[in-house]
Amino acid sequence: MSSRILLTGGAGYVGSHTYVALVDAGHEVVILDNFSNARRSVPDRLAQITGRPVQVIDGDVRDAGLLSRTLVDQEIEAVVHFAALKAVGESMARPLDYFDVNVGGLTNLLRAMETAGCRRIVFSSSATVYGVPDETPTPETAALRAMNPYGQTKIMSEQMLGWLRQSNPDWAVGTLRYFNPAGAHGSALIGEDPRDIPNNLMPLVAKVAMGELERISVYGDDYDTPDGTGVRDYIHVEDLARGHVLSLQSLLDTGESHLVNLGTGRGHSVLEVIAAYKRACNRDLPYTLADRRPGDVPVYVASADKAAEVLGFRTERDIDEMCASSWAWVSNLKARA
Ligand code: NAD
Ligand code: UD1
Repeated sequence: MSSRILLTGGAGYVGSHTYVALVDAGHEVVILDNFSNARRSVPDRLAQITGRPVQVIDGDVRDAGLLSRTLVDQEIEAVVHFAALKAVGESMARPLDYFDVNVGGLTNLLRAMETAGCRRIVFSSSATVYGVPDETPTPETAALRAMNPYGQTKIMSEQMLGWLRQSNPDWAVGTLRYFNPAGAHGSALIGEDPRDIPNNLMPLVAKVAMGELERISVYGDDYDTPDGTGVRDYIHVEDLARGHVLSLQSLLDTGESHLVNLGTGRGHSVLEVIAAYKRACNRDLPYTLADRRPGDVPVYVASADKAAEVLGFRTERDIDEMCASSWAWVSNLKARA
């Protein structure tokens, strides 16, 4: 059934892919984004992909009046909340900005939703809430530990949502702990588009493949992993987007909350990612071995069982498809520039 959905941060990386998946599933979607980390061209791209006009509100999730008006005027039935700041290093340097946008923005949104009687929300959390996990694959029951202000804001947001549910059982919350999103939409019209030099592995490898950076630094080859390099659970952003559609549908159908990991349940090392990208772009990808990155976790792999059980969610795309779609996207971006 079609519902009216507000997508905060819907012009960003995960949000834009989720927009397409929600429209494909028949929903009517309104984006609210302040474009602090998204290109102005994204809505046009989304219109091109979906063949439908895109409704965008240029605004900030910290603007209480705007949120209240939007929820009522647009007759919003549920919210998918992506809008947040997400760079770990920046969060160490500017913690107050992270608490302001990530925790303050969510508080503001929830208050406006409560007043409007709209009590269905899907929330973007992160595997970072596990800190250095006690076990891998990591289940949702693992202990939570903040390693930096960014991770702390995600833990605080989850806790706030938990207390809100206790205060009023009408709330239904889908908390999604993403592992490492990668890849791009099959159209090559949207994808990850970092403004500065990226810190994350996949966009960095893409820049080396494009010849925009000279080489990849592999942060540590002495971890207790098969080849000594860090292992992560990379999930194709289109699979991740589908996870949001299932989460939202479950909230709308059952009124029950859920909290799940979204990952594949499989890990890949840094060297495996470089090898897969090499297959995708058919170019040499030079790398050098470097020291470990401070604060890095050796292995992050999701236990994917609960998402399968609760939402029927299973990933469909592998690391080769993530690299191939990333390569198609960055090549297209350059061709259009
Ligand atoms: P992104 O930066 O591409 O998207 C966030 C969007 O929110 C951007 O379009 C930005 O312009 C917008 N935004 C930021 N502050 C805003 C504000 N105050 N008001 C309105 N809009 C605002 O990031 P993403 O990778 O798409 O991440 C989306 C969500 O998923 C975030 O909450 C992030 O913490 C979470 N997450 C991301 C990853 C990842 O690796 N990409 C991993 C785990 C969790
Ligand atoms: C990082 C964040 C995490 C956030 C996630 C998704 C840190 C410490 N953690 O996680 O909180 O949720 O991004 O946005 O920043 N690597 C290299 N060379 C590079 C870059 C990365 O070898 O130039 C390695 C890393 O050591 C790691 C793997 O590649 O083993 C993946 O790194 P990255 O993409 O930054 O993701 P995370 O470390 O999982």
